[in-house]
Amino acid sequence: LRAGGRALRLLPGRLRAPAARLGSGGAAEAPEDAEVNTRKKTFTEVQTERLEQAERTVLIKCQSRLNEKKLLQYLSSHGKINSHFFFENRGIHALIEFSEKSSVASLQDVVRIPKAVEHHVIPFKSRLFTFTLKNPVAKTAEETPVHLSPQAHIPVNELIQKLHQADSISSQMYILLNEYQLTEENIKLRFLACSLVQDFARAYFPDSTVKPFGSSVNTFGKLGCDVDMFLDFHDTQEHAAKMKKGPFEMEYQMKRLASERLATQKILSVIGDCLDNFGPGCVSIQKILNARCPLVKFAHQPTGFQCDLSVSNSIAIRSSELLYIYGTLDPRVRALVFSLRCWARVHGLTNSIPGTWITNFSLTMMVMFFLQKRSPPIIPTLDQLKELADEKDKHIIGGYDCSFVSDLSKINPTKNTETLDELLCDFFEYFGNFDFRKNSLNLRRGKEVNKPESSPLYIWNPFEQDLNISKNVNQPQLEKFVAMARESAWILQKEDRTQRMINKEPWGLAALLIPFGKSNTNKMRRTKGMGSETIRSLLDSLKLSNASNLQKAVGK
Ligand code: CTP
Ligand code: MG
Repeated sequence: LRAGGRALRLLPGRLRAPAARLGSGGAAEAPEDAEVNTRKKTFTEVQTERLEQAERTVLIKCQSRLNEKKLLQYLSSHGKINSHFFFENRGIHALIEFSEKSSVASLQDVVRIPKAVEHHVIPFKSRLFTFTLKNPVAKTAEETPVHLSPQAHIPVNELIQKLHQADSISSQMYILLNEYQLTEENIKLRFLACSLVQDFARAYFPDSTVKPFGSSVNTFGKLGCDVDMFLDFHDTQEHAAKMKKGPFEMEYQMKRLASERLATQKILSVIGDCLDNFGPGCVSIQKILNARCPLVKFAHQPTGFQCDLSVSNSIAIRSSELLYIYGTLDPRVRALVFSLRCWARVHGLTNSIPGTWITNFSLTMMVMFFLQKRSPPIIPTLDQLKELADEKDKHIIGGYDCSFVSDLSKINPTKNTETLDELLCDFFEYFGNFDFRKNSLNLRRGKEVNKPESSPLYIWNPFEQDLNISKNVNQPQLEKFVAMARESAWILQKEDRTQRMINKEPWGLAALLIPFGKSNTNKMRRTKGMGSETIRSLLDSLKLSNASNLQKAVGK
């Protein structure tokens, strides 16, 4: 029943790259985690397992000093506990995963409804409870503060300090990955949030499921990112298909609406109201029903997550699975994406509010494209993954062929042995010089192709080929991205790393995670240390030619 320390796992068999393994790292020296190679679980298997686990799970608000053993003893009278952990979120909470679903019902049977003295309560019995001592005076010496599992990552300045311990950029990137990636506990909490919303959805639609997608499940989520969830009625459709055989035909009488969009809006509207009116801890509900993809946004206070609920978006789930495959194939993939996402956030290239900037999703796709373009490639193209697909991998959604292999063991490991040091620097160089004016990124083919229209940044949606996933990005934001990429390549290539290590100055990845305007040590060193006018003018000319190239590249 031990909660254990902070797990470094994202999904079963998640890459672990502890300090001992943080060598100078290329593929050969990357965390030689056997789990990465032996793991065979498909995306669907992991999802199914996690969703089922979440249905056996409850969340209990506790007092800050409690007797862990007694709490577990009390709960064990309702059934075996598989795992548990504590975390802080407006008070101490315990997540308890029973081994049987019936234990939850058994617990719900004995839990009392709060007395409605000041407030009237809505009699919806959820899986959220409060645990208090009947007699608080009876505190004993056994009551010790419990271990709290962190649910947020450390601030960037603390991270930069930690990066000093590394001996290469690769190891810095794995340190960042370990600090930022979702923990086993955080993933459990995310699936629980979905499962709690599902309890409400099932009050209306007993066959529905609420599943997470996006960065919570695609292996690229960082602690603190939103939970994207969708309501799935897929199982009901499968059931309907099974009933077709035989001489008779029976069908349900159902409400008919003019469009799928209208149905989606109606469903989301009532579930949004239901969460708003009856959902314990569901606050700040916003219905955004006129968006291209209608959704309900809300904050789920008991788990501390910001949630986006939409109705089954099969294509978005396919892209989550595609990224899951890419993130699982090679340990360098996630280390590179996490580092670049962090870099982009520090320099204001991405933002948590939607706008004309590059999204994390687009940036991740840019990294995937870059990795497809390496020689030899680090990850396969989508067309190659499609060739490996078998009958059960077939998915035609809205007329688009979204098939690709789900079994990871069918994909040959890459022969590429480049280090993350090289990859990081080359990423900046590659996109610092990319002809965005003319070319677009096509991950299906792993090729640059002529832009079909004039959006500044064009990344083909891998599944809906007529959509650009980065349509929102405007010219100034793209220019800023290119300028930052060039500046970063410049820093990595020119910095005197050994000297900076000796001086205890930020180097490598750490130097890239300080806003460039403020990282005057870097700027000063460029002129001061080297000193001479020659270097100074060289730098100026480099900057000038960069500026004109930049305009050419991004098409001004
Ligand atoms: N998505 C998509 N096309 C887009 C934007 C999003 O298909 N133009 C899908 C992707 O599957 C994406 C998911 O919707 O992963 C969720 O979108 P979003 O929350 O914007 O991205 P995340 O990948 O979840 O990244 P973040 O950590 O920033 O939330
Ligand atoms: Mg998201």
